[in-house]
Amino acid sequence: MSPQRAAIILAAGRNRRMKSSRSKVLHEVGGRTMLAWVGDLVRRSGMDRPVCVVGEADTDVRTAAQNLDMDIAVQELQSGTGHAVNVCRDMFEGFDGTVTVLYADTPLIRKDTLSRVFEAHDTGADTVVLGFETDEPGAYGRLVTDNEDLSAIVEAKEATPEQLAITLCNSGVLSCNSQSLFSALSRVTNNNAKGEYYLTDIVGILRGDGKTARVVRSPESEVLGVNSRHDLAKAEAAFQDRKRMECLDRGVTLRDPDSVIFAYDTDIARDVEIGANVVFGPGVSIATGTVIRSFCHVEGAIIGENVTIGPFARVRPGTHLGEGVQLGNFIETKKAAIGRHSKVSHLSYIGDAEVGENVNIGAGTVTCNYDGYFKHKTIIGNGAFVGTHSSLVAPVTIGHGAFLGSGGVITDNVPDDALALGRARQVNREGWARRYHMIMSRRKEQKT
Ligand code: UD1
Ligand code: CA
Repeated sequence: MSPQRAAIILAAGRNRRMKSSRSKVLHEVGGRTMLAWVGDLVRRSGMDRPVCVVGEADTDVRTAAQNLDMDIAVQELQSGTGHAVNVCRDMFEGFDGTVTVLYADTPLIRKDTLSRVFEAHDTGADTVVLGFETDEPGAYGRLVTDNEDLSAIVEAKEATPEQLAITLCNSGVLSCNSQSLFSALSRVTNNNAKGEYYLTDIVGILRGDGKTARVVRSPESEVLGVNSRHDLAKAEAAFQDRKRMECLDRGVTLRDPDSVIFAYDTDIARDVEIGANVVFGPGVSIATGTVIRSFCHVEGAIIGENVTIGPFARVRPGTHLGEGVQLGNFIETKKAAIGRHSKVSHLSYIGDAEVGENVNIGAGTVTCNYDGYFKHKTIIGNGAFVGTHSSLVAPVTIGHGAFLGSGGVITDNVPDDALALGRARQVNREGWARRYHMIMSRRKEQKT
């Protein structure tokens, strides 16, 4: 039987340094809250349902944690990380496995890194701390070590000058046998610079009990703890960098990698080509052979093979593009399924629409989907030809193979293979313009 692994996610801290009315752990990196990043790591690492420690007044964090399928423990007063773990004590009564504590403000740890923490347990360590080497140890806790044996964690505020010079720091991930953890926590005091109960003190306490403690090292880019907007920007940059490298490794062409912004779940197949200044929101997958030209914003879209998009297209949530679809410049789509080899090449809005295969949509076409109260659907059959500057007033259905004359305001359904003209008939008046200019120029002369 595999060892039992539980997780506690700390999310109750005050967040003065963020200068935000939103809770720190609900700020996003790569389009996903930091709390959700940590929840996802726990889930993918095969740990039990995590317990999330939330502040009493912090209903937003509590709701977010519940939506992420976490159990909740409430810390009434934020008296430190040790105190925060201790409020979970009753929930772990009788639990004999390991408890891994993760901080919800540290979003970018990888599964493989956490696996190495578990391995250290499995090879005999009672307590394992994930550490990292950094040139800027700043306010991080310092790991006092004897080779890979950890003697103690010293918070920067308590450290001696010699300890401050240590560059091996505490990431916040601490994993410990459950019995040891809670036994040590009952002996932690708040007799320190911050007047808080430090979780990190348990290492020294357990070493005093003769237990083993070990350090597992992580790359610095994974364990950046977010305390301020500066840190948030750094975490975002680290995530973007990681995602760009992953794309390049997988065989995606990025013309200007640094100008492409990804979301946590952007899923791009090999031989996709992405131009400069493209932004992906959450929920995008792109199949092979597709080209996204510069200055596109794409979110919530499933994009088939060999599609071309942009430059300057906005692809919004609910867009499904079939194989070989072409979206040109200044196209906006939303809740639109567009069938194989259809083209929307210039200046169009296609929303709440089902477009068939091999449809040609002329420049400046607009689906008029909103009546001020409700949204309505436009359906366009296979092989239809929508003339330039058509207004399709939904709900409306255009039959297969139908042909819409340019400039139509189409309010009625169009049968298969019909021609629809939804505009006033043209009137020509012979010689009118010549007479008009004669009269008007004479008038102007009389006035001056
Ligand atoms: C903590 C560590 C430090 C480590 C750093 C890594 C301690 C004492 N220090 O410092 O060694 O290098 O993280 O980023 O643990 N929290 C609560 N309740 C509390 C206090 C904090 O839930 O009463 C939560 C916060 O929401 C946060 C996490 O615990 O997610 C860490 O708290 P924070 O105050 O940011 O600790 P640091 O000072 O960064
Ligand atoms: Ca922190």
